[in-house]
Amino acid sequence: MGMISDNLLELKDVTKVFPGVRALNKINFDLKAGEIHALVGENGAGKSTLINIISGMFKPDEGEIFIDGKKRMFPNARAAFVAGIGVVHQERNLIPTFTVAENLYFDSLSKKAISVVSRAKMLEEAGKAMEIVELNLDPDSSITFLSAAQQQMLEIARTLTVNSKILLLDEPTSSISSTEVELLIKIIRKLRNQGVGIIYISHKLEEVFELADRITVFRDGCKVGGSVAPKDLSREALIERMVGRKEAVDPFPVRDNFVKTVMEADSIRGKMNTNTNSFTLRKGEILGWYGLVGSGRTELARMLIGVDPIVQGSLKVNGEPVRIKNTKNAFGKYGIYYMSENRKSEGLFLQHSIAENISIVSLNKILKKGLISKAREAENTLKYIEELNIKTPGPDQSVGNLSGGNQQKTCIARGLFVDPEIIIIDEPTVGIDVITKGEIHRLIYDLAEKGKSIILVSSDLAEIVRLADRILVFRAGGICAEMKNRKNYAEVSNEVMNCIIADSVGR
Ligand SMILES: Nc1ncnc2c1ncn2[C@@H]1O[C@H](COP(=O)(O)OP(=O)(O)OP(=O)(O)O)[C@@H](O)[C@H]1O
Ligand SMILES: [Mg+2]
Repeated sequence: MGMISDNLLELKDVTKVFPGVRALNKINFDLKAGEIHALVGENGAGKSTLINIISGMFKPDEGEIFIDGKKRMFPNARAAFVAGIGVVHQERNLIPTFTVAENLYFDSLSKKAISVVSRAKMLEEAGKAMEIVELNLDPDSSITFLSAAQQQMLEIARTLTVNSKILLLDEPTSSISSTEVELLIKIIRKLRNQGVGIIYISHKLEEVFELADRITVFRDGCKVGGSVAPKDLSREALIERMVGRKEAVDPFPVRDNFVKTVMEADSIRGKMNTNTNSFTLRKGEILGWYGLVGSGRTELARMLIGVDPIVQGSLKVNGEPVRIKNTKNAFGKYGIYYMSENRKSEGLFLQHSIAENISIVSLNKILKKGLISKAREAENTLKYIEELNIKTPGPDQSVGNLSGGNQQKTCIARGLFVDPEIIIIDEPTVGIDVITKGEIHRLIYDLAEKGKSIILVSSDLAEIVRLADRILVFRAGGICAEMKNRKNYAEVSNEVMNCIIADSVGR
């Protein structure tokens, strides 16, 4: 007779090695039915690798996996999915040319021939799965116009179509707004109460403490300490487990000594917008753009770099009216550089090395006698690897092989190397672990101190309050308030929320 275990899922001594990296080192981990088990750790600690192993994407080099006490090893992701392991990966995983219903049933469909699936039944069940996650979409509609949050919810709905009893969520809240986070949390709790076992990965520690029944910490592929209840672990202790040292968050001083205006937008409006927006940016200033996801900040940023045309109003850079044609023109002529929030889809060349990705926009800086100097490139890359703590065996690693957070850091390094006069940084720390987040804040602050002018676009109010000198609050495509930032969170958040709410009630 085998031992009776109440573990829904259990991993024993699981090891996974990639060239130059021990991503997981003899990991023991378990998950119970009706439990939310949070997994936290720095970027590159091995969290996603664990998810990929449980869900059949990767084979472990050593170790065993038990489900309901039975030893299992899935040959591929579909086998795991059909066996009731639902996974929502760090990156979105929907097929753009498929409809909502087809995306929901993609995995189950491909088991049988599509022709034998009753379409009526598929639509009916799609409706049911979406109801659980409170999505109200036409199953026949295209997914291309869905917001990030809707796509996220749709992926969760997909796991419900096979009645998953294990749900693996890899940073599910990284690209959704706070109201949507609340909904997601409600749904996750509902599923837990129905007996689903959930592994929850997040860099947002508040969320982890609020949701988790147990927390496990990974560092460099190893488990640090046991799996413990949140009440038995303070935030400080958790961070210490993550990085082996304490978090240092010294506040940045309040600054207000700006003189020169470097950018001035006067009632500008884009094609897709009905609002006009006006603002100024001064030399050395950090101008925070706060708003919920979808409040129009990215749209406005795109006009400043010539990606979307300005159809009305005027834009001045250093006092001169400008007509910016494209990103190359924005940077080459006016020194304006935009660091996209969609770093992965818009920015990185996944097959190429970290070194190449960092230098691609600044090749002129690594020339030697007119030729690209690989030595210079490597030296420069090493500098950023160190400064941003990019976890990699070396500068030649393909970016596609880096963890999500380390891919982000590579994009940030590229922007820093470009060294523009005006830099628009869109959601710089999404998916970045708390420690590195602090380091990136320091880098941004130092850039401003050196006289660079920065527009900091963020949905993370704490980040805005920590860094910005002035704050513009966005709502429904327009700037609804402007305030000086005294860097006092309670005060600012009150003011910001009042104006967002007052505005929405007024409509
Ligand atoms: N396909 C791969 N080839 C080579 N190395 C890999 C591959 N996948 C992951 N790694 C490495 O394994 C380590 C763990 O990566 P993993 O993606 O599991 O980290 P993570 O904890 O999810 O980080 P993040 O918080 O940034 O998402 C990293 O050093 C990463 O570079
Ligand atoms: Mg990851």
